[in-house]
Amino acid sequence: MLENINPTTTAAWQKLSEHAQEMKEVHMKELFRADRNRFERFSYRLGDIYIDYSKNLLTEKTLQLLLELAEECKVREAAQAMFKGEKINVTEDRSVLHIALRNRSNRPIKVADTDVMPEVNAALEKMRLFADKITGGKWLGYTGKPIKNIVNIGIGGSDLGPVMVTEALKPYATFGIKPYFVSNVDGTHLAEVLKQVEAEETLFMIASKTFTTQETMTNAQSAKDWFIAQGGSASDVAKHFVALSTNAGAVADFGIDTQNMFEFWDWVGGRYSLWSSIGLSIACTIGFRNFEELLSGAHSMDEHFLNASPSANIPLILALIGIWYGNFFGSESEAILPYDQYMHRFAAYFQQGNMESNGKSVDRNGNKVSYQTGPIVWGEPGTNGQHAFYQLIHQGTKLIPCDFLAPVVSHNPIGDHHLKLLSNFFAQTEALMNGKSLQEVEAELKAQGKTPKEIEQLAPFKVFEGNKPTNSILYKKLTPFVLGSLIAMYEHKIFVQGVIWNIYSFDQWGVELGKVLAKKILPELKSHRQVYSHDSSTNGLINVFKSYRNS
Ligand code: F6P
Repeated sequence: MLENINPTTTAAWQKLSEHAQEMKEVHMKELFRADRNRFERFSYRLGDIYIDYSKNLLTEKTLQLLLELAEECKVREAAQAMFKGEKINVTEDRSVLHIALRNRSNRPIKVADTDVMPEVNAALEKMRLFADKITGGKWLGYTGKPIKNIVNIGIGGSDLGPVMVTEALKPYATFGIKPYFVSNVDGTHLAEVLKQVEAEETLFMIASKTFTTQETMTNAQSAKDWFIAQGGSASDVAKHFVALSTNAGAVADFGIDTQNMFEFWDWVGGRYSLWSSIGLSIACTIGFRNFEELLSGAHSMDEHFLNASPSANIPLILALIGIWYGNFFGSESEAILPYDQYMHRFAAYFQQGNMESNGKSVDRNGNKVSYQTGPIVWGEPGTNGQHAFYQLIHQGTKLIPCDFLAPVVSHNPIGDHHLKLLSNFFAQTEALMNGKSLQEVEAELKAQGKTPKEIEQLAPFKVFEGNKPTNSILYKKLTPFVLGSLIAMYEHKIFVQGVIWNIYSFDQWGVELGKVLAKKILPELKSHRQVYSHDSSTNGLINVFKSYRNS
């Protein structure tokens, strides 16, 4: 079980607070000047992934103290508890075992004395048989035509993972199956997807752990109505609708034969579920072999996380670096910046992964925390971001640690595009670190022939302080294996941070209140009566909405 340790009471936290004062006076440039081996010292190769964390405001001492913090907060013991299937999701009384879904070693993992691996393997085998039929053109629709389109209907963790992975692994989608995703309850999302597909060639995957989520059930019902309106009969539904869920009863009530239900378990968190049956749209798009490669990549990162020594443990180190800035330098957000167009949903995926997991302000004692927890996570692919928000990262008032990610080999080697892309990657991390001093700016302006007066006026605006931290993550090529490893790396980073912050990372009570209130408001919107049951702003807005709607 997870221990209950307030991180601020540890000796390491105290030492880190003092050390941070010293480090606030230091410029990274000086650290590089003082140590010719800084890159080698603070970078690590893990198979086809190379992680450079040398462009951070840290020294050997910083790392040592951060590792002491991890030790005092019993991170290793917590990881072992998770991998052993202990019920570390205490507020929901559940184990946390997404690692079992990709446990390629097949080592037994027990929940309440029962090994879950036989069930996991059986579920994977069912997915394999189904995916092979779809990719092989053997699963036929109601007019006898093979399936060409998959429409995954789900939201949050039942959407973002499959979207992100199918986008990232597009080069592997060689079977002629096109995935579509409908998540928003805004009817536009469904309508625009349905315009692009023919019912007879389309398979709907209703992806919902609970099978009660309002958005998903509404979209699923409308998709079924559309399918029937297009000419499919009620008995044809079985050929065109499958469910990915833990809730067999609700699946049957919806009208999907439980033969066509791909199950998973309550010990899989929604935002950690792409490895489970929720990944069926992935397996049907890139083929089951590639889906297995994704699992294998994640498993290799799991093994690294569980077994590597702390000082060479990448998810641990990335987590500690995040804590260093969030808790000791006041940074509030982190940017994920993939220089890889295929990874354009990666930041959005970890926005949920991170913010739903560690967006908590109550510790494991039930007390309000007195320190910062999960960061705001955001980002867009480079180089687009450079022309949008990098200005603020370079010269704004906020400290934003950034992760830069890029493939060494492009799937699309057109001309010198990739070299241009990567030259921007290297240039940005260098510029963020070095900045440009006043002297450099003045010399540059002088060389341009500016007068002393002009130089004096312009120079302050052209100065870059630099000293902005970045991690650079280079991977050889974006293969299913590499992507699996990268996702697992960030998952474990989030886990470590939750352990140190002494919060529960695997529940999400914070999303419930809005859901409950929306259910109360829906009948009010449907009725013609004026509404008085809320505060004056909410009443006013609802009544304006109703009057516009009825006018
Ligand atoms: O928004 C809350 C949440 O429960 C997420 O954690 C989850 O990924 C999403 O809703 C969808 O839930 P379900 O898969 O049960 O439809």
